[in-house]
Amino acid sequence: MLDRANRLLVPSARSNVPPFMVMDVMAEAARIEAAGGHVIHMEVGQPAAPAPRTALNAASAALATGRLQYTEALGIPSLRGRIARHYAESYRQPVDMGRIVVTTGSSGGFILAFLTLFEPGDRVAVANPGYPPYRHILTALGCEPVLIETVPESRHALTPEALLAAHRQKPLQGILVASPANPTGTMMTADALKALIVAAEGEGIRVISDEIYHGLDYAFPAETAARLSDRVLVINSFSKYFCMTGWRIGWMVVPEPLVRPVERLQQNLAISVPTLAQIAAEAAFDGRDEMEAVKHGYEENRRILIEGLPRAGLEKFLPVDGAFYLYADVSRFSEDSAVFARRMLNEAHVAATPGVDFDPIHGKNFIRFCYAGSAAEMHEAVARIGKWLRG
Ligand SMILES: Cc1ncc(COP(=O)(O)O)c(C=O)c1O
Repeated sequence: MLDRANRLLVPSARSNVPPFMVMDVMAEAARIEAAGGHVIHMEVGQPAAPAPRTALNAASAALATGRLQYTEALGIPSLRGRIARHYAESYRQPVDMGRIVVTTGSSGGFILAFLTLFEPGDRVAVANPGYPPYRHILTALGCEPVLIETVPESRHALTPEALLAAHRQKPLQGILVASPANPTGTMMTADALKALIVAAEGEGIRVISDEIYHGLDYAFPAETAARLSDRVLVINSFSKYFCMTGWRIGWMVVPEPLVRPVERLQQNLAISVPTLAQIAAEAAFDGRDEMEAVKHGYEENRRILIEGLPRAGLEKFLPVDGAFYLYADVSRFSEDSAVFARRMLNEAHVAATPGVDFDPIHGKNFIRFCYAGSAAEMHEAVARIGKWLRG
């Protein structure tokens, strides 16, 4: 009897996804701060800056009306139109606003995209290292994430050769690419992205492009997959360049024949995306000056770390192309980057994320620094790490 009652409380196998290690780092940092310590936070991947003033003003005005109702499932038409215009303005690529779908962050976009494109059991290639929820959401939806090892020579991006080799071993139905990427901060050139899309589509493999870090490109301009093929499903977000993580709003550019299926899913799963966030997001496009200033701050932070970390003793890291991440190899100091990160936090009060969150295979060698804070914090982090490593 008790057994039967207890079985009611057993979670489904599909819900058994791993936790995020970064949360443990945050908890440890909070303990140090509660005891009076001052931690430099470089563990969480989010802008320190608030949403642009234009977005905040639009949200205040909307709130004052007191009426926030459901919107169309695909999003407020004027926001969809504004996002479509963004492609014409930023990439010189006209996109029909009918193909724009507003989502609950790019996270909401992944669920809609995976459900629309894949059947249970489908195999979807993702880069290793990579953003963990790609594989965890796929698993929860009954798909199989296929981790493809990346190498420094290709800036840790997926290549046609690696994709086709995995496909020959056992057929793939999809591939998810990201440039700039998390955790590596590396980018794919337009040619590399094009070659990958051509190779995938030639084999009937569906392509999803996560472009959440677009706008935060320093090495060379990021290319949108929407310019390269109208069969690719593009996912983007207001979280990073637009500094709107907590607003939970993003968008997709969906191949035209798939818009109606996505719309039906969104109607059933969410009805619509929070209205206040949609109104703020549309106005955020008018706050470009503020967002560009924030971006210039990241560029300065990037310079401080590229110059400072080697002097501090951390001289081995991947090309710091875009996003706000620097992925450093700490294998010279420790066999386990989780131990290294814990010691750095406790002894130098600098918080970073161990690579095992992003890479079950080689993550023990790496830690990820997020440089979305202030320049003063970057200088202080370099000084503390240098003193700690020497000491
Ligand atoms: C590569 C990548 N994609 C997607 C997301 C999800 O972001 P959001 O749901 O806030 O748009 C993140 C968040 O850190 C990310 O790093």
